[in-house]
Amino acid sequence: MANSVSQRDSFSGKYGFIAAAAGSAIGLGNIWKFPYITGVYGGSAFIIVYLICILLIGLPVMLSEISVGRRAQKGVFGAYKTLAPGTPWFFSGYMGIAAAFLILSFYGVVAGWTMEYVVKALAGSFTGKNPDQISAMFGDFIGQTARPIFWQVGFMALTCFIVIAGIKNGIEKYSKILMPVLLVILLMLCLRSVTLDGASKGFEFLFKPDFSKLSGEAILAAMGHAFFSLSLGMGTLVTYGSYLKKTESLAPLAGQITIADTVIALLAGIAIFPAVFAFGIEPAAGPGLVFVTLPNVFAQMPLGNIFCILFFSLLAIAALTSSISILEVVVAHLVEDFKVSRKTATLMMTLVITLFGIPSALSFGSLSDLSIFGLNFFDLADHIASNFLLPLGGLCISLFVGWKMARKDVADELSNSGAVKIAYLPVFLFLARIVAPIAIATVFLHGLKII
Ligand code: PHE
Repeated sequence: MANSVSQRDSFSGKYGFIAAAAGSAIGLGNIWKFPYITGVYGGSAFIIVYLICILLIGLPVMLSEISVGRRAQKGVFGAYKTLAPGTPWFFSGYMGIAAAFLILSFYGVVAGWTMEYVVKALAGSFTGKNPDQISAMFGDFIGQTARPIFWQVGFMALTCFIVIAGIKNGIEKYSKILMPVLLVILLMLCLRSVTLDGASKGFEFLFKPDFSKLSGEAILAAMGHAFFSLSLGMGTLVTYGSYLKKTESLAPLAGQITIADTVIALLAGIAIFPAVFAFGIEPAAGPGLVFVTLPNVFAQMPLGNIFCILFFSLLAIAALTSSISILEVVVAHLVEDFKVSRKTATLMMTLVITLFGIPSALSFGSLSDLSIFGLNFFDLADHIASNFLLPLGGLCISLFVGWKMARKDVADELSNSGAVKIAYLPVFLFLARIVAPIAIATVFLHGLKII
């Protein structure tokens, strides 16, 4: 049987899974998005709400996803079909696939920007430029037509190449090499940023809370970002969990991925904000924060250009280990449920998602006047996916594990059929049944201005 469990590709073990899942979680969300939304929503008060979301919602939803995937040995759509046959639960699998589609469409665009910046750094384009010139370079680049699309296509081709190679020889192999390097570079950047003159104001911004700036919208954004950053709500971890061996203990894995993701986001904040303040740039500078601030930091550093090349390469790499996980959600669906070959499924979906992403690539140039609900195409795709589809997907999976699955099945999966102790089970079930769903629903309805 082509799809029998024994023939199913899998991670080689615990470290392969952690590298791939942390690779998925750690991405543009941590290094590009977290710092700029922290800037937009007023700094550390936002971070505190974000951390609460991670703990009360992120962690239980993550554990739910991994257990569902491993139990069913299927991607997000097939998992619901397998564990709850003949019920409408599979709709939430469709929602996950739609979210994957939308997210990858704009994710590939920003990842493409990082590749342009590698080339710019290699050419020494930032050397000797002042902050205004560096800022203008970014605006000029994203306002163009051909270049952003060129890089988006290039990045998507790389993503496609890895996903075609499969789980062990593609996703796991590349994640294991690339993630440790990312950490080392980020630590070096933090060290440089905190030793700049005027860095302390950045720390104040990051760590001294001002709750007066917290709005309902900020709380919705914090929750949406918790889902986005941990790769939750669309079945990435259901899919990765389905490639995990039955002997691995799930709760420690979920804990390690969550900690790694959160630490990297905070480190990115530390690498960026002290530098932002040291150079007198507005912290709420928006999506351009990383592309404007960091080249400025590098311009001031001894051997800065080398750091600049490394940083943007590694940002591209972090994006790559995330984008492969997003593409895998869609590919797994075609392979498992339509019996399409991995190669055909990957090529087809890469093509369709790339085409769908082109309006996002043009959102800062020729399509910048196009406004749907007051947002450009890029922001709209991000907003629908991060603030709606992901939280809804998270709500579904926690309700599924909390209420639909039998308690004994949940316990069986988490304990590896009794092999490991799961003293945390009542707390986990309380979070999955009550806390996470109520929190998600409240924030969500409040964000929609319904309550
Ligand atoms: N977690 C990734 C990041 O922070 C993005 C992502 C979202 C990946 C959803 C998979 C699923 O960049």
